[in-house]
Amino acid sequence: MFSSQLISKLQRAESVTVFTGAGISAESGVPTFRGTDGIWKKFRPEELANFDAFIRNPELVWEWYKHRKQIVASIQPNAGHTALAEMERRFPQFAIITQNIDNLHRRAGSKNIYELHGNVERNYCIGCGKNFTDAEIMSMDKVPRCTSCGDLVRPDVVWFGEQLPVEQWEKSVSAAERAEVFFSIGTSAVVYPAASLPLTAKKAGAYIIEINIERTELSPWADEVLLGRSGDILPNILKLCRSNRLSAHN
Ligand code: APR
Repeated sequence: MFSSQLISKLQRAESVTVFTGAGISAESGVPTFRGTDGIWKKFRPEELANFDAFIRNPELVWEWYKHRKQIVASIQPNAGHTALAEMERRFPQFAIITQNIDNLHRRAGSKNIYELHGNVERNYCIGCGKNFTDAEIMSMDKVPRCTSCGDLVRPDVVWFGEQLPVEQWEKSVSAAERAEVFFSIGTSAVVYPAASLPLTAKKAGAYIIEINIERTELSPWADEVLLGRSGDILPNILKLCRSNRLSAHN
């Protein structure tokens, strides 16, 4: 099933970094963005996922994010997420860099997670920065407003044209640069600057393993492309780690 190259790289690796996209959550029921029934096939990102659109029509944007919050609240992490959570305990250094806002890595038990595009379960006031939980948001009017300053509250996600959270980005670049093995899982690798990270890791000498149901823009640069569903492939990679590696730490 796996090449001897992959097996020996994983056997010897001290530092592993994993980069994930919407595809790893597809098997949990989260729609991807650019797949066959992808979100951007049905909706226009310029109407829903940018700040100007939010100011122009906060009710529409909130209707959509409340819908996404309900989807996320109704689903569970899948075998791909849980395999990564256990793999984290089998390597001295292990980091997950995710583009996903669905919080499923954390719910699966992963600890060292860098969220490049925010988290749909967090919200804050655009005026005073006050944070709000989803429970508070769901109990508010159609357009949630800050209970302190009255300004608009928004989901803590990164919209098109916005800067990525600086600390998360810097830690992601370091995790890419120190990786001996770098997995790119369930991402079309077309949205920058996140999509530059696999190439940063490659330049720093990492062995790049791509897991996707189809080839992507990254595939020509990967050392190995494992075609298939991440929920099928990752549990087998975990089995490999279990047989090859003693538990690094609990
Ligand atoms: N297992 C592995 N890969 C899968 C699976 C699966 N079960 N299902 C789908 N995929 C792959 C698709 O083939 C595709 O390459 O996941 C990828 C999903 O790509 P996109 O929909 O483009 O999502 P992503 O790469 O995460 O998008 C990046 O774009 O819209 C913005 O902010 C949003 O974070 C998102 C960013």
